[in-house]
Amino acid sequence: MVVNNVVHVNECGLPLNAIEWLVKHHQSKLQERGQMIRDLRLEKGSCVVDAGCGPGLWTPLLAEAVGLEGSILGVDISTEALITAQKISSNNWYRHQVQYKRAMLEQLPVELGSTDLIFSANVSQYLPDPVATFAAMGPYLKQGGQLAIKDIDFGTMQFHAIDPMLQARVFQARERWEQERVANGYAYEDSWVGSKLAGYLREAGYKDVKESAYRIVRRAPLPRNFHFYLQGIAQWFVCEGAPYLSHNDVTHWLQCFTDPEHNVLENDDFMSEETEFVVSGIWDGGTKSRFHIDMQTETPPLEPLFLTNEAL
Ligand SMILES: C[S@@+](CC[C@H](N)C(=O)[O-])C[C@H]1O[C@@H](n2cnc3c(N)ncnc32)[C@H](O)[C@@H]1O
Repeated sequence: MVVNNVVHVNECGLPLNAIEWLVKHHQSKLQERGQMIRDLRLEKGSCVVDAGCGPGLWTPLLAEAVGLEGSILGVDISTEALITAQKISSNNWYRHQVQYKRAMLEQLPVELGSTDLIFSANVSQYLPDPVATFAAMGPYLKQGGQLAIKDIDFGTMQFHAIDPMLQARVFQARERWEQERVANGYAYEDSWVGSKLAGYLREAGYKDVKESAYRIVRRAPLPRNFHFYLQGIAQWFVCEGAPYLSHNDVTHWLQCFTDPEHNVLENDDFMSEETEFVVSGIWDGGTKSRFHIDMQTETPPLEPLFLTNEAL
């Protein structure tokens, strides 16, 4: 169901951004995101699971890192996302290195103890119990294998040339709404998760937890895809009726980003900055975790969907 141009609820009930916005968002940060993958220092031939792969935008970066002898399994609960991922990859150079399957993060469709890296980008913000989910993923890693979680943190976001008090009110209203939205029937979201990830990984039992922060700064004149990304983010901040923001603030905020005459994105002094986090940890807990055993006995696995080029 499309709620508006930007916010999209997939068939699993998750409030996701529309595919076009996700693609442009990814392209607009490709430089930093390429660096995030290179910094993981993957060995050629590694087996990687991209957990919550969505439309598979990270696949080429991962495929380059693991080389032709490596493999990537993209996993997601959304059939819609997996079909898009398969369509994109079927015409690309990395198509023989990747498979996509439907599964939950907590019940990956791989052998226990078989994976060098589980990578998961922009998914932890939707996990109601991230510690339990990260603990459940550990047993799929080889002894010494790595979990790397990448996510946003809107506490780091700033837009120069916009009234700082207006920004503070918008961010506070959104943060409060995210804390209360589940009680109002919306899916869980934490857009402030990035700086909490290191603590979550340690609590889930990972060792040698490392946090890398990537500061993303763009100045006027903005690349078109970054312009599009910012307009989407601005609308998202005030979606669902923005219950803790005044009507005036919503109008003024949207005017700053989307008004054809008075938006500030074209101003010479416009600057956007935010920090994205990649947090990694090493699993040496073997092929068992208490949460994993609970998941196996209590939750029936999703009916598998295995996509091949012939199926499209
Ligand atoms: C914002 S998208 C990110 C997609 C991709 N990783 C990226 O960065 O472009 C979040 C994805 O996580 C998936 N997802 C959320 N919770 C999940 C879970 N528990 N198990 C598997 N996939 C999940 C959603 O279906 C969605 O495709």
